[in-house]
Amino acid sequence: MKDASPQTIYLEDYTPFGWRIAEVHLTFRLAPHATRVLSRIRFDPAPDAPEQDFFLHGEDLTLIRAAIDGAEITPALSPQGLRCAVPDGSFTFETEVEIAPAANTALEGLYMSNGMYCTQCEAEGFRKITYYPDRPDVMATFTVRIEGTEPVKLSNGNPGGSGNGYAEWHDPWPKPAYLFALVAGDLVNHPGSFTTMSGKEVALNIWVRPGDENKCAWGMESLIASMRWDEKVYGREYDLDVFNIVAVDDFNMGAMENKGLNVFNSSCVLASPETSTDANFERIEAIIAHEYFHNWTGNRITCRDWFQLCLKEGLTVYRDSQFTSDMRSPEVKRIGDVIDLRARQFPEDQGPLSHPVRPESFQEINNFYTATVYEKGAEVIGMLKRLVGDDAYAKALDLYFDRHDGQACTIEDWLAVFQDSTGRDLTQFKRWYSQPGTPHLSVTEDWQDGTFTLTFAQHTPGQQDAQPQVLPIAVGLLGPNGDEVAPTRVLEMTETRQSFAFDGLGARPVPSILRGFSAPVVLERATSASEKSFLLAHDTDAFNRWEANRDLARACLEAMVTEGTEPDDAWLGALEQVVRDDTLDPAFRALMLALPTQAEMAQHLHANGVTPDPDALYAASESLRNAMAARWSGWLGDLRAACTVDAPYDPGAGQSGKRALGGALLALLTRLDGGAAAQAQFDAADNMTLQLGALGCLVQAGTEHAALARFAEQWRGDRLVMDKWFALQVAATAPENAATRAEALTRHPDFDWKNPNRFRAVFGSLAMNHAGFHARDGRGYRLLADWLIRLDEKNPQTTARMCSVFQTWRRYDNARQALMKAELERLAAKPGLSRDVTEMVTRLLG
Ligand code: PHE
Ligand code: ZN
Repeated sequence: MKDASPQTIYLEDYTPFGWRIAEVHLTFRLAPHATRVLSRIRFDPAPDAPEQDFFLHGEDLTLIRAAIDGAEITPALSPQGLRCAVPDGSFTFETEVEIAPAANTALEGLYMSNGMYCTQCEAEGFRKITYYPDRPDVMATFTVRIEGTEPVKLSNGNPGGSGNGYAEWHDPWPKPAYLFALVAGDLVNHPGSFTTMSGKEVALNIWVRPGDENKCAWGMESLIASMRWDEKVYGREYDLDVFNIVAVDDFNMGAMENKGLNVFNSSCVLASPETSTDANFERIEAIIAHEYFHNWTGNRITCRDWFQLCLKEGLTVYRDSQFTSDMRSPEVKRIGDVIDLRARQFPEDQGPLSHPVRPESFQEINNFYTATVYEKGAEVIGMLKRLVGDDAYAKALDLYFDRHDGQACTIEDWLAVFQDSTGRDLTQFKRWYSQPGTPHLSVTEDWQDGTFTLTFAQHTPGQQDAQPQVLPIAVGLLGPNGDEVAPTRVLEMTETRQSFAFDGLGARPVPSILRGFSAPVVLERATSASEKSFLLAHDTDAFNRWEANRDLARACLEAMVTEGTEPDDAWLGALEQVVRDDTLDPAFRALMLALPTQAEMAQHLHANGVTPDPDALYAASESLRNAMAARWSGWLGDLRAACTVDAPYDPGAGQSGKRALGGALLALLTRLDGGAAAQAQFDAADNMTLQLGALGCLVQAGTEHAALARFAEQWRGDRLVMDKWFALQVAATAPENAATRAEALTRHPDFDWKNPNRFRAVFGSLAMNHAGFHARDGRGYRLLADWLIRLDEKNPQTTARMCSVFQTWRRYDNARQALMKAELERLAAKPGLSRDVTEMVTRLLG
């Protein structure tokens, strides 16, 4: 049972645990409704910890027996754990508890998914398995015995003995309980192997449900590439004899880095050309890498407490983005990351859920696995690297691994490594970890006697106490003919207002500012459309070239919405040049062709003091797309034909870029031919990228009926593909149908709402259909709130995460605000609401 009155936990209250644990012995006797967990732990007093009562976390456990040094005791039990008197020196503590994995719908602790046992312990799930000091700074080696009839029984570390009905595992690396994992079931494996840089042979396995074996090859390839990359780039070698990955259908998040036994949401590991899109392949490659990289940044060096979450997550996201850049195109990856940051982190940082990269308090830690901790956390590391330089970064990382291997660390430890190895004072830089909000950076320019001066000013809206941040601002200068006259230079801004001069110039240059999006800020710069078009045509920095286009697109849509103007001819002419330029990467051209989403436009208008009208934004993007299609009708078909791939499917950057551009062009063509080309592509498709892309166009055109039925017929037995079927209809349909369609889908026999992937397929997509979710009469809000109320009883964590779709509620008009507020209040008033959702709704309304 959840605590009725949620407690707030503060960073400043940290105290070390009073004991150390050398070794943990666990025995699991598996049974769906009555699993027994026996634990034997040796506790030694921690010399420098303050005096404290002996307390072990434990939730939803039935205590069968407890003993100290072999003598039975009767501890005091509460909903949070167990307390008892203990000897002064060292002692052995034993418990036996009973738990019911089959009744666990929260998917935290030990639970069952399709008859298979699996665990999820991060952040605080281990306490639902046994009594334990469930905190990341308590690190111990684990020896685990699993008893059960399941043919496959896995845990962390290296395999030990096994026999009839049991398997033993030993993990020699001390770890916190959140990295514990156990999996048991009827699984089949896709094997592989890797020889490490010192010549050690590692057995690799991807474990899946029978029938999914043909979807493992890509995951294995990605794993091997990740292992090789981490050796080459960070000098990090794998440290066990085996590395196991398991695919699970019911999972709250993407994947989990348990030591030697990563558990994946099946959507983040299973792939085949027929069932997965190019985007799926890229995402799987990145997530496999992310979880693998955690072995060093997260597992070998872990977090002292959960406030330090960004220590492992920001760094690991940064590392996986470097990996993807190396495997694919760095420019395309960077643009994609910035699109994502603006779509997910900016609204968080600029709304009621705003919190620092290192939060200072929380009620439910699960609510802080956020875009701010992860993605802004990674941006902060990118800035640090930009400021100190690549070599100094590499040296600092070597020192980090040397100094802190085997420890549970803090952001202070992380920054000290950079201070000590570079001699740089990072006191001011540290504000990136403590100050919430997105800084705005404005810039003015001056030209005199061959000297060009840029003057920057920074402020963070909504954050009265914000002190100036350290901003690395990458700037290059272009001459009047488009040549680069000053290559990229990183300006280091530390003051509220600061000028930087470039001298010896023959003519007034055009500046390209914040190249590569060198700091996560909002750049405010009053530039003419013609200067943006100039950058769009000439900038040597791919990111800023894309950004110039994005600015023009936003300005065009804004004018269409607020002034009722026609689409901007000059911009469309300049864009056409880029899109038709075959010397450019097709993936980049596809990104140029994509318009800002309606949610991005709402954010943009709101920042400019305009209340966004979702219906008007939808109408404007439709009419802009129609105008593009009409204007470019002469060449769309030919260029699309040139994107055809005549080779066996390959998910790499080359082919997927062509398919991305082809897909964007098909969407425009569909506006001219009513869906004929899309139907033909759908009928002939032999991979999911082409099939789903075509289906999306048909849904948009409103001519999807037969294709949808055929798709369902073809893929009825494939859960992951059926998730796409559910999602697409809601996401791509006209706004007036979105809520109705979502509602109808909840009555579909395959709508298994307790499965997080399926729930998100319908409701995550509803939230993404901007004008549909924000339907004037509040249908979208009401439907979602109804289902959140229902899901909360089963799965608080997924429910709480989905509450964030309401985080922008204050941006909209009074009528919509009132409707959203009413739904949030209805949620808040629900008797027995979980701690997770209570905290989210309170913050959203606060
Ligand atoms: N630590 C996981 C990751 O970043 C995410 C996660 C958090 C998974 C909590 C499950 C629960 O890879
Ligand atoms: Zn992670």
